[in-house]
Amino acid sequence: MNEEKTNETIIKLEGLTKRFGYGDASSYALKNFDLEVKRGEFIMIMGPSGCGKTTLLNIIGLLDTASSGTYLLNDEPASRISAKKQARLRAKKIGFIFQNFNLIPNLPVIENVALPLVYSGYHKTRRLIKASEALDRFNMKEKEYYYPYQLSGGQQQRVAIARAIVSHPEIILADEPTGNLDSHSSLAVMEELKRIHSEGNTIIMVTHNPSLTSYATRVINMLDGAIDTDVKTVKDSDLPVPVERKTPKRIFKSRKKSNPKKKKGKK
Ligand SMILES: Nc1ncnc2c1ncn2[C@@H]1O[C@H](COP(=O)(O)OP(=O)(O)O)[C@@H](O)[C@H]1O
Ligand SMILES: [Mg+2]
Repeated sequence: MNEEKTNETIIKLEGLTKRFGYGDASSYALKNFDLEVKRGEFIMIMGPSGCGKTTLLNIIGLLDTASSGTYLLNDEPASRISAKKQARLRAKKIGFIFQNFNLIPNLPVIENVALPLVYSGYHKTRRLIKASEALDRFNMKEKEYYYPYQLSGGQQQRVAIARAIVSHPEIILADEPTGNLDSHSSLAVMEELKRIHSEGNTIIMVTHNPSLTSYATRVINMLDGAIDTDVKTVKDSDLPVPVERKTPKRIFKSRKKSNPKKKKGKK
């Protein structure tokens, strides 16, 4: 009917089922779940505790596998992606923001944030510079050499979000990212997600806060491992398209016009 050009489908779930446990003790976290996600969607997933929201994100993020059904990531069946490629996709293409931060306790925050860049091909110094820039966006630069335990919950979540976005992933999966934040930090996080989304990236976020759904282009309510309601508030043809990002090299040298090596008498 509609000939308008729309973004491509990047995630497709067909008849996805996830069962935990065996025999009589088994239960379904996801039941015959179908979902098609286009690039540039900002999906908020709501629903009561235990309805399968986290299980869904874990499967989409290649951290868990379905018991049956199909998951296509960019048209490729997830079950056929090698473990090595899955690890690379998780680092480069998918950014995770977990409910419980999941920072590595014995690494300073800057090194936590730099972790996904291991696959970037950058030298360690540059990885730390990129991590520091990401932390700066969340006003966490002064704390970059602190350890996670030295930070409040809200600060740890800001570090976790910096880590999720440092490699400019195309898909952000966020499991109640503002659940432990005060309203000020929560707003900052949502505005950052909004900016990332406006650049044509795809966000799937679980939340219990109905007021945040104003940021979404689609709101899905889950019940007992299935979709209860699914409402798109933005037409597919109006979703943001990917913006050209400056290459890392240009970002790296765009700061100063002059070459400090040629300046005499300074420092
Ligand atoms: N690792 C697991 N082992 C056994 N059961 C699990 C596991 N993870 C989740 N479940 C069960 O699957 C269902 C969905 O869980 P979850 O996806 O965490 O829900 P939500 O995030 O919506 O609260 C729940 O009944 C939960 O107890
Ligand atoms: Mg959950």
